[in-house]
Amino acid sequence: MKKIRVHLGKRSYDIIIGGKVIAALGGILKKMRLGDTAVVISNPKIKKLFSAKLKATLDKNRLQYKFLEVPDSETSKSREVAFKAINRIAAWDTQGKIFLIALGGGVVGDLAGFIAAVYKRGIAYVQVPTTLLAQIDSAIGGKVAIDLVQGKNLVGAFYQPRLVFSDVQFLGSLGKREIRSGLAEAVKYGVIRDQALFEFIARKYRGLLALKPQPLESVVERCSRIKAGIVERDEKEEKGLRTILNFGHTIGHAVEAAAGYKSITHGEAVAFGMVCAAEISFRMKLLDAGSFRRLSNLIEDIGLPVRISGIKINKVLDALRHDKKFIAGRNRFVLPVAIGKVVIKENIPPQLIRQVLSARLSAFAENHR
Ligand SMILES: NC(=O)c1ccc[n+]([C@@H]2O[C@H](COP(=O)([O-])OP(=O)(O)OC[C@H]3O[C@@H](n4cnc5c(N)ncnc54)[C@H](O)[C@@H]3O)[C@@H](O)[C@H]2O)c1
Ligand SMILES: [Zn+2]
Repeated sequence: MKKIRVHLGKRSYDIIIGGKVIAALGGILKKMRLGDTAVVISNPKIKKLFSAKLKATLDKNRLQYKFLEVPDSETSKSREVAFKAINRIAAWDTQGKIFLIALGGGVVGDLAGFIAAVYKRGIAYVQVPTTLLAQIDSAIGGKVAIDLVQGKNLVGAFYQPRLVFSDVQFLGSLGKREIRSGLAEAVKYGVIRDQALFEFIARKYRGLLALKPQPLESVVERCSRIKAGIVERDEKEEKGLRTILNFGHTIGHAVEAAAGYKSITHGEAVAFGMVCAAEISFRMKLLDAGSFRRLSNLIEDIGLPVRISGIKINKVLDALRHDKKFIAGRNRFVLPVAIGKVVIKENIPPQLIRQVLSARLSAFAENHR
């Protein structure tokens, strides 16, 4: 079992990572004394897979709990679902103190964190992430939110969990597409901060795709360390450091929006966005050809897209213009200058963005999956 401390003064917490470690969670929670009753927020699929293990460790430590199910969909990050859940929690909250456990992927984690942040002006919550993306990214750092029709994650807060508990055993039931999407974010950490991690993924991607526990645990630990280090130094994204986590996300978000958040996963869009950003960097002579090729090859090896069909370039360009990071017509990109190092650049020539995108996007759908 590995422990990483996120140092944030009074808001500090541990990230615990291991394989088959869930049985230890109850004892840890008992010692933390977060409250009298845990409300476990989850969806039916995850509850079916993991609730028995969670119940066993809570029962063993004589912790009270209730399960609260939300639908298995991004639409659970909504006002409707959030306030329905809050009403249930308030009805249960008659004596003692309530705290929350988010058992699930990023959707459940963002929603539970949001509820924890606003209910009674803040109650304790614990993240028990069950997707690779949630273990290496969304469960760490306290960005919690729900969506509006106007856009994703528009209503939220920075509200840190009290514990992140990542059992890589949980990843064993993930589909290939979910694992690939999580690996896109792992590659991102390698490119922005850690060449050795990038090389590790390049050597082990087959084992990672086959959900081998050892390399998975190593990736979860290394990525969690990087995210924790960045969050410690720039908790609220005020110093520009947390911005580098957006590598691949500027074009990635635009592609997701252009696809209407269907047909393409977040990780696939980010993988594509990273290749585009690397190509922009290469064409601006900021990144050497070899590094550009290594990134693009790794993304292809993992089975993530370096080209996308069925999406119109104008829709992506429109979405880019509406991006909140594009202030007053100026654009801003996180560009790799080596594997392991990125810079933030503003005012990338629009023709260059268009050129790179038009070579990699085609409006005609192919049956490539
Ligand atoms: N807060 C942040 O900093 C942050 C960062 C990145 C992403 N996010 C958010 O995270 C969300 C995406 O998270 P996600 O990719 O985990 O998606 P998700 O939560 O929708 O999970 C993906 C799918 O996998 C299923 N699932 C979860 N665990 C499983 C398991 N162990 N075995 C089998 N199936 C399992 C889920 O039920 C779901 O169908 C988005 O809403 C995004 O905005 C937040
Ligand atoms: Zn992401």
